[in-house]
Amino acid sequence: MKVGVVGLGTMGAGIAQLCVEAGLDTVGREVTDELGERARDRIAPFLARKVEKGQIAAFDLERLRLTTDLADLAGCDVVIEAIVEELVPKQELFAELERTCGPETVLATNTSALSVTEIAAAVSSPERVVGMHFFNPAPLMPLVEIVRAELTGHAAFDTAFALAETLGRHPIRCHDTPGFVVNRVLIPLLNDCVRVLDEARVSSEDLDAGMKLGTGWPMGPCELLDLVGIDVHVHASEALYEKLREPRMAPPPRLVAMANAGLHGRKSGRGFYSY
Ligand code: CAA
Repeated sequence: MKVGVVGLGTMGAGIAQLCVEAGLDTVGREVTDELGERARDRIAPFLARKVEKGQIAAFDLERLRLTTDLADLAGCDVVIEAIVEELVPKQELFAELERTCGPETVLATNTSALSVTEIAAAVSSPERVVGMHFFNPAPLMPLVEIVRAELTGHAAFDTAFALAETLGRHPIRCHDTPGFVVNRVLIPLLNDCVRVLDEARVSSEDLDAGMKLGTGWPMGPCELLDLVGIDVHVHASEALYEKLREPRMAPPPRLVAMANAGLHGRKSGRGFYSY
């Protein structure tokens, strides 16, 4: 099987890493050679460490072919899109993928908060569009939500489900509703956690300790928001609020202010914590 990954940011690079680990021929597309190479350089040490720990026997990074040209995705069985979380660029990309890929190629989106159905509306063959929502960090989180949009065909859905299994993930099936399964629950929950910071006048450290030691979360909510990216969370939260109009979906002002100030979490060096 040959898989294309479009966009090699945090999520795309993690997905490409899983494809290489599974021994699949992988084509990774970025807008510049430099961005592609940067992603491959991020992947290499994780794979080397896995070999060192005996978790995998070997890996062949040659399986990841980098390109800036969408035409190089033509022979892929599945293309997974992981570009910016904006509807119009995703729709433009899917229309272009439909022109460049063969009719059998399944077109999957890793969107977390947009509608797969709306993305699929940009192509004339929406039956081959499906959601494959991975979690951050993709190489460590076993879940993938396989999202059935309004017009997703059985063949595309089954191919996406089987690919997730090939990648060693645990796929679950759901329909295309705002936030799908996990984010529908997790986003308002994290927003509540941040509201509690102010209401209970508790420190980030104590809130994190509370959720880890009191409920067994692997990371506290503030640590998790720093991992996901405050900007990414605020953006997803706004997208869900726009669709559901439930007050808990709206990002708390504290998070919006952090996002505007550039306190984006781990990737920017500062969020609730400093890195
Ligand atoms: N690829 C491969 N290996 C990686 C890696 C990567 N990208 N990142 C880290 N590792 C390795 C580390 O090198 C480490 O190995 P060594 O220490 O032996 O070198 C190993 O994995 C474990 O790393 P950690 O010590 O950091 O692992 P941990 O036991 O502390 O667990 C965690 C980390 C899995 C992230 C865990 O804390 C956890 O489950 N946190 C919750 C994360 C979560 O909820 N994610 C979902 C976010 S929501 C989302 O993603 C939805 C959305 O749409 C935005």
